Amino acid sequence: MLVIALCKGRFLDPSLDMLARAGIRFSEDVASSRKLIFSSDDDQFRVVLVKPADVPTYVEYGAADLGIAGRDVIMESRADLLQPLDLNFGHCKIAVAAPRGVHSINGSDHPTIRVATKYPRITLDYYNTHGIPVEIIPLSGSIELAPLIGLADRIVDLVETGRTLKDNGLEVVEVIAESSARLLINRAGYQTKRDEVLRLIQSLEKVIR
Ligand code: PRP
Repeated sequence: MLVIALCKGRFLDPSLDMLARAGIRFSEDVASSRKLIFSSDDDQFRVVLVKPADVPTYVEYGAADLGIAGRDVIMESRADLLQPLDLNFGHCKIAVAAPRGVHSINGSDHPTIRVATKYPRITLDYYNTHGIPVEIIPLSGSIELAPLIGLADRIVDLVETGRTLKDNGLEVVEVIAESSARLLINRAGYQTKRDEVLRLIQSLEKVIR
């Protein structure tokens, strides 16, 4: 049996849809249940539901053999994982944003730019690469609020449609990376359960094509 870690939230429906099209189906309604573990109808797979940021941890430690998570979460985790497939959904950008009209990445009144984000490592790497002193203000949601009430000069956050930025008078200053859903595999599991894992990769590849 292979254990697959899936994200609760907006990735869950497309992940379940992709698994169903690869032949992995569940008699229970995974998306609406409060349960956290589900066995597939053929008993070959077990799905566990976790917070998006925890998917790489479950897979890296081998509690799950595979997982589906956004590239943003994987980059931030720095987990040591195999990433054989871009699953071609959940497309978005990890971007620096600022109040409209503020274009320069270091155009702050403060000697050190203050950046609110739920991606502290990605943000630190980005500003270090640009040689700009940065103070990271870690938040876990509603990041767009921070520059509006003086908590930060900039944000680093996901931009999908751009609507949240627009509705809050912010705009993208620079795109750090493109993100989409990825299949993650535990390194050891890839060796010990190679045949099962490869079969699943092949099924998913057919779905993506
Ligand atoms: C994400 C992200 C942005 C928004 C971007 O937030 O952090 O706030 O979606 O989407 P858009 O470009 O289509 O408007 P999420 O909805 O996950 O909520 P959060 O504020 O709790 O992180």
